[in-house]
Amino acid sequence: MNDRFLRACRREPVDCTPVWFMRQAGRYLPEYQEVRTGHGILEVCKTPGLAVEVTLQPVRRFEVDAAIIFADILLPLEPMGLSLEFAAGEGPVIANPIRTAADVAALKPVRPQDDLGFVLESIGQARSALAGQVPLIGFAGAPFTLASYAIEGGSSRNYVETKRLMYGDPETWHSLMGRLADTVAAFLAAQVAAGAQAVQLFDSWVGALSPDDYAEYAYPYTQRIFAALADCGVPRIHFGTGATTLLPLMANAGCDVVGLDWRVHLDEGWTHAGHDKAVQGNLDPVVLFAPDHEIERRVLDIVKRADGRPGHIFNLGHGILPATPPEAVGFVTDLVHRATRRDG
Ligand code: CP3
Repeated sequence: MNDRFLRACRREPVDCTPVWFMRQAGRYLPEYQEVRTGHGILEVCKTPGLAVEVTLQPVRRFEVDAAIIFADILLPLEPMGLSLEFAAGEGPVIANPIRTAADVAALKPVRPQDDLGFVLESIGQARSALAGQVPLIGFAGAPFTLASYAIEGGSSRNYVETKRLMYGDPETWHSLMGRLADTVAAFLAAQVAAGAQAVQLFDSWVGALSPDDYAEYAYPYTQRIFAALADCGVPRIHFGTGATTLLPLMANAGCDVVGLDWRVHLDEGWTHAGHDKAVQGNLDPVVLFAPDHEIERRVLDIVKRADGRPGHIFNLGHGILPATPPEAVGFVTDLVHRATRRDG
């Protein structure tokens, strides 16, 4: 098996730096568009045959060193009692967002096997289909990012409703975060039992918080999740964006790998996270729209800043954008492998 991704997560030496891309299965791929023509995004997530097909698409097309199961961080909100839809071009919409203590009290406990069994089934089938070619990553949203969707009812710019609840009714906030943390911990443990060989916790919007608010209102719940996974035997990746000032705390939450976006130099970010952690990142996703020579210059800068230290997983600083030229993804993958090839 190509295990350089798992080795890098554990900060072991590798033959060359592993590469994968957040959102590597998605709309920039014509073959993904083709699957999506007949099926909504939620339908793809809930139909293991389709989810496995799109999980494999980037692995067939590029020499990426990991697959990530096709699913969405918002899936656990449905069995909790929220109505989830993806409106064309508008992103996720939750028609009954959480606003009050009564809304939180009415949330239902989630049993991963019964309520999210389709993701577990997809993981099992994807492992068989991959046949050891590359490892499979499972994932979930972190409590703050999930809470922001559950409270705002969709994507948000300023998180006004989220912070209104956080500041105005901390008791309800903490109760919601506790429920989300328990749900996510159980879901990730079930993903590992189903065959996920690493797990990534996406706290995509955590950069909206000040360091003090992060420490008080979000960190304890993320820590609870990683603690619950301490003995699960697979690497735990902790990803956030706009989170440069939060990196020391994020690294301390109990993860093995820390995600770095492009707003910090890789070497500086690694210093903030600590050299006892592996790091993943950190190319700006929009660089994939640049000419090859410009992509090359920036990729080589990141590789140089990693300085041959074991424990760098090359990735973007956030997910691939829908209009990305697929050729650029192949170009970066091959360039990273070539530029970091070690002998022996
Ligand atoms: O990485 C992969 O290839 C696996 C698939 C994956 C999806 N969502 C499928 C998806 C992953 C890892 C996610 C995680 C996810 N979902 C995050 C965290 C990562 C990040 O980008 O910060 C977030 C915040 C979500 C919530 C979400 N799902 C949004 C905001 C949207 C709409 C985005 C848009 O551009 O419309 C989705 C839908 C979604 N989930 C898409 C994909 C490929 C795009 C919709 C489509 O295919 O029609």
